Amino acid sequence: MLEVRDISKWFGGNPVLHDITFRIEQGEVVGLIGPNGAGKTTLFNVLSGFYRSKTGAIRFKGEEISRLNPEDICRKGLCRTFQITKPFSNLTVFNNVVIGALSRERGIRQAEKKADEILDLVGMTSKRDLLGRSLTIADRKRLEVARALATSPDLLLLDEVMAGLNPNELKGMIDLVKRLTELGITLFVIEHIMTVIMGISDRIIALDHGELICEGPPKKVADDPKVLKAYLGEDYVAAQG
Ligand SMILES: Nc1ncnc2c1ncn2[C@@H]1O[C@H](COP(=O)(O)OP(=O)(O)OP(=O)(O)O)[C@@H](O)[C@H]1O
Ligand SMILES: [Mg+2]
Repeated sequence: MLEVRDISKWFGGNPVLHDITFRIEQGEVVGLIGPNGAGKTTLFNVLSGFYRSKTGAIRFKGEEISRLNPEDICRKGLCRTFQITKPFSNLTVFNNVVIGALSRERGIRQAEKKADEILDLVGMTSKRDLLGRSLTIADRKRLEVARALATSPDLLLLDEVMAGLNPNELKGMIDLVKRLTELGITLFVIEHIMTVIMGISDRIIALDHGELICEGPPKKVADDPKVLKAYLGEDYVAAQG
């Protein structure tokens, strides 16, 4: 589904992503972890066309996409959510989702039909007519997922859609993520809550200081000394060892 080779990103003189190479297969749920500032959101920005890597290649469904703009990448079926949610605050939940749907659907009627299907899928039908600005954090996160889903993605990048949720809301979001995989959507998921990301991912990729430091099944990554060091610091790992 996705082949990423030797992606790098610099801001000023600082390397934020360094020679990142990995693959995601169709139907997988891949978790992306790493401490604050590791480069996770930047990687999503490069994959979705918001930033450009000067090196390497990104192939999506066999096609090179690294020179395309975000709208074209989204139209090809690779869409992302934003860590900082940005609903149109003066539009209703429904119209926010219609706008997402218009990137793929031909006419307004089809886009409205799609928006209602998506609101049903994410459990927001009862909030259809609320304004974007009146939503709780949990509903803003859910709307963010709905807007992305309305573009009919094959690969969806979720950037911390579980952050700031209470246990009940968290359970609802995990259920939604599971439903998406059942629908055949491949997922690449940034999440800080370890028990959650370990539970939903088939495979995990760990970044630290812009480098891919470990990749594999959740258990292997959780036990990897480089990952423990990235999160807890060298002294802690030495003391445990
Ligand atoms: N537009 C930008 N200009 C300059 N520096 C940036 C920019 N965007 C990100 N950075 C820097 O790049 C590094 C990686 O940031 P990024 O947002 O990708 O981290 P992250 O892993 O998503 O962190 P978090 O877990 O806090 O969301 C940080 O040091 C950040 O300050
Ligand atoms: Mg981030």
